[in-house]
Amino acid sequence: MKDGRAASLEQVARAIADKMRNGALVGLGSGTTMAAVLPTISRELRKRNVRVRWVPTSLQIALVARSVREETSLMDRSSLDLVVDGADQVDSDLNLIKGGGGALFREKVLIDNTKRTAIIVDQRKLVTKLCSGEVRVPVEAHPFARVPVAEGLLSLGGEPRLRLGERGFPFYTENGNLVFDTLFKPVARPEVLEMEIKAIAGVIESGIFTPRPIDVFVVRDDGTYETRRRSS
Ligand code: A5P
Repeated sequence: MKDGRAASLEQVARAIADKMRNGALVGLGSGTTMAAVLPTISRELRKRNVRVRWVPTSLQIALVARSVREETSLMDRSSLDLVVDGADQVDSDLNLIKGGGGALFREKVLIDNTKRTAIIVDQRKLVTKLCSGEVRVPVEAHPFARVPVAEGLLSLGGEPRLRLGERGFPFYTENGNLVFDTLFKPVARPEVLEMEIKAIAGVIESGIFTPRPIDVFVVRDDGTYETRRRSS
């Protein structure tokens, strides 16, 4: 018998597969949630005879796509039909913190260039205000700008911490950049903080996402799920 979370994820996968049409170009987010849900989405698409092309945001998720024989593609159109992704935190206005896996740059590019965004999160990731608790905002920075970016984040009231890999070496993104996981106090206007971080010279991208329209699928432990939507 399946646990509640797995049953809920399966229902979400079906609901998302239902949104896809033959030939669609779909952004494929990274992380453990996407790795868990993609095989079920793939199975559902096959059942319905729907084939789509996925634009992966990391090697991690490209390998999962390959293992279930989904077709991957470059972003060869200016606009995607849909992006499916996870998130680290979601506030009550459906703004997001993303980038726990380090794939924030590609995720931001795809989410900024899609007609629709579907985010799948566990119920424990919901908060009223973004940056609540201990969840840090990942900030990707060019290595040349390590010191000024850290100072810029401090001047915005953040506490930047250079991300390290398992053995204590600095973590490098797939773009060859560093990540500062930065603690902020809960923010009322995430879109302002997003712009302020991006304005620091040397910042490649921040993990604050404010996409519209957005559908958030909240996965619950009791086997059910809930959809939240914002169109503007
Ligand atoms: C990848 O860089 C991220 O943006 C993920 O979408 C986010 O960290 C959520 O990851 P999990 O699904 O592993 O919790």
